[in-house]
Amino acid sequence: MSRFPEAPKSLLIRAARGDRSDTRPTAAERPRRARGGREDLEGPHPSTFEADLSDADEYGSLDDRLGDAYDAAIDSTQPGPGQRWSTWRSVAKGQRGPEPLPEWLVTRDAAFDTELGILKTGKEADAFLLERAVPPGADPASDDPASDGAGAAERCLLVAKRYRSLDHGQFHRGTEYNEGRRTRRTRDQRAMEDRKSAWGRAVSATQWADAEFIALRDAWSAGAPVPYPVQIDGTEVLMEFIGTEEPDESGDMQAVAAPRLTRERPSDDLLESYWEQLTHGMSVLARLGFAHGDLSPYNILADGERLVIIDLPQVVDLAANPFASEVLLRDCRTVSAWFAARGLDVDPDALFADLLAQAF
Ligand SMILES: Nc1ncnc2c1ncn2[C@@H]1O[C@H](COP(=O)(O)OP(=O)(O)OP(=O)(O)O)[C@@H](O)[C@H]1O
Ligand SMILES: [Mg+2]
Repeated sequence: MSRFPEAPKSLLIRAARGDRSDTRPTAAERPRRARGGREDLEGPHPSTFEADLSDADEYGSLDDRLGDAYDAAIDSTQPGPGQRWSTWRSVAKGQRGPEPLPEWLVTRDAAFDTELGILKTGKEADAFLLERAVPPGADPASDDPASDGAGAAERCLLVAKRYRSLDHGQFHRGTEYNEGRRTRRTRDQRAMEDRKSAWGRAVSATQWADAEFIALRDAWSAGAPVPYPVQIDGTEVLMEFIGTEEPDESGDMQAVAAPRLTRERPSDDLLESYWEQLTHGMSVLARLGFAHGDLSPYNILADGERLVIIDLPQVVDLAANPFASEVLLRDCRTVSAWFAARGLDVDPDALFADLLAQAF
């Protein structure tokens, strides 16, 4: 199992104690300060942290030197470096995940988002591990969670997938995927065609993020095994972290991401169960009128006995896209090949026919 780069322990100390600088936002300024408009698109994502993890040790030693007196003087209700206010309420309702909200989700205004490290850098997007948690000392009455308990949690782990405005070339997911995809504004359409412009690249990044959020939202609501989509903000999609927290050698808890299916060698029973879960997920997508479009063991996580399909920005509209059946057949063949190589008797063509029949 792969481990994340270890979250600096003193970052967690910071999470609890905040920062003393006078440039911190006042309570009245939060949580909107993390938001950005279109003009921000050319720079880093407006919600991207300036996570400086390099001086973590220094911070720890400062803490040692100043001891308890320092603790008492610090205002722990303001985010420190590598943190921001939870962006839950700074996006419009339609940009938040579908109901019913999961119980594990933190929706309280008092929560901070703390950047814990990078999961994976990719060509088009980077995935970060993020903790959303209510800091100690937060006013418990400031924002009561819903009475049904949804969103009542105090702490959760999330993945922030941030799409990049590429500085070179084009998205490798090119025109094939955009066929039949409606863009909202003709200005955006023109911008996407003019990929040389910074605006064009920024629009593409936002649209890929939008596409992934919408696909996750629809798929999750329809019961497909995908991460819960928490929210979208510009080029950043926040979603459920698939994995576990386990103690390391020194007893500290560490987040361990679920491995990709590609490396797994499941028992016969588990292999069969994975196949059932996967084909169920593909059926749900087909009934919604989608093909995943990039389905492979690299985009499927093996979370213990549960299988989770990820990476959906390029979902293809089976009705509107003239390449759709080719794409769907490719998905069927790719996943079938992996299961066949592990010894399961599967038929990609039968799967393809079955999915098409469910779509129409
Ligand atoms: N929700 C999640 N929970 C745990 N790990 C995740 C999650 N989402 C993504 N990852 C990890 O990050 C990797 C990259 O995610 P994803 O496939 O969505 O992005 P990508 O930019 O398309 O990357 P790639 O080009 O490698 O496919 C995944 O293979 C997985 O290891
Ligand atoms: Mg991927």
